[in-house]
Amino acid sequence: ITCSAETKTVVIGLAADSGCGKSTFMRRLTSVFGGAAEPPKGGNPDSNTLISDMTTVICLDDYHSLDRTGRKEKGVTALDPRANDFDLMYEQVKAIKDGVAVEKPIYNHVTGLLDPPELIKPPKILVIEGLHPMYDGRVRDLLDFSIYLDISNEVKFAWKIQRDMAERGHSLESIKASIEARKPDFDAYIDPQKQYADAVIEVLPTQLIPDDNEGKVLRVRLIMKEGVKFFNPVYLFDEGSTISWIPCGRKLTCSYPGIKFSYGPDAYFGHEVSVLEMDGQFDRLDELIYVESHLSNISTKFYGEVTQQMLKHGDFPGSNNGTGLFQTIVGLKIRDLFEQIVASKAAAPLEATKA
Ligand code: ADP
Ligand code: G6P
Repeated sequence: ITCSAETKTVVIGLAADSGCGKSTFMRRLTSVFGGAAEPPKGGNPDSNTLISDMTTVICLDDYHSLDRTGRKEKGVTALDPRANDFDLMYEQVKAIKDGVAVEKPIYNHVTGLLDPPELIKPPKILVIEGLHPMYDGRVRDLLDFSIYLDISNEVKFAWKIQRDMAERGHSLESIKASIEARKPDFDAYIDPQKQYADAVIEVLPTQLIPDDNEGKVLRVRLIMKEGVKFFNPVYLFDEGSTISWIPCGRKLTCSYPGIKFSYGPDAYFGHEVSVLEMDGQFDRLDELIYVESHLSNISTKFYGEVTQQMLKHGDFPGSNNGTGLFQTIVGLKIRDLFEQIVASKAAAPLEATKA
């Protein structure tokens, strides 16, 4: 049998506000596919694209239609759809999905200008990450899977302070002001995309410490849509039941405030979902194997793969809590989804001859 199943590019959308952990997530994802993603060779050093054997990650900032000066003049932010070219985004993502290379613009984050384009060849997996992967209905329909990173305001603030104050010398007031200034457009154009996501990673302040406002200990929820083709939600102990689990004790070391897992069915924007939640943080990453062994449908290829991935990137932000854990699991689910799509396409011509 000649199997001429030309595999089309699988397209994944990752939406989040800037500074919310998209690049960290992408590093975990490309690692699951067995290779670090690098900037394209020989091109513009300010390219935002990351390429590995299996994946190409493009940043949707490259579809800004207005550069920094243009945005200032028109008084629109980068979050505003009017600053972005959705026609071109659609055309190019569609072309790649159909196996056609494109000349994608480059938004230069240093100069705030649009640079000459770079050639993007169709990869096995294309990830489009940025502010608006699910905003335009045409682009949304091209996505085989979509993820929204939902960082609560309290946590966003804590992360921004950590980065902009410690590393960039900004003042507390200016950080507060810049978050406030973005908020109306964020609420209008970015946040509503989460209703379309197949998986949402929600990051909230802990409930284990009363009145916590440090934003260091996190409660992270993985919200997984039911009925998505090639995606079977992860569960804890028993699929579809409601579980609350404190793994601390003889098998897992926990210091204050401990760790609490929850799992159960829920509704999200009118969809049926399963939610897996982890509040607290790990003291010892190697003991994560104990938690991993109680999770099902995590799409690992061998026992302990989640723990191995977490240990491998123990230096990435969020490795000791649910952000790292759930990003790793979503990475494995995407690998599984990809393999199922490839297998279904390979089987399709055979199915046709049977009929
Ligand atoms: P983005 O690509 O969305 O701009 P990054 O992955 O570069 O975001 O993360 C931006 C910053 O946010 C990091 O430098 C780090 O300070 C903080 N951060 C991101 N993810 C986490 C996390 N899971 N836990 C703690 N801090 C995080
Ligand atoms: C967001 C966008 C960036 C943009 C930045 C600042 O973070 O993702 O593309 O550069 O806002 O926008 P500004 O208009 O101040 O350059």
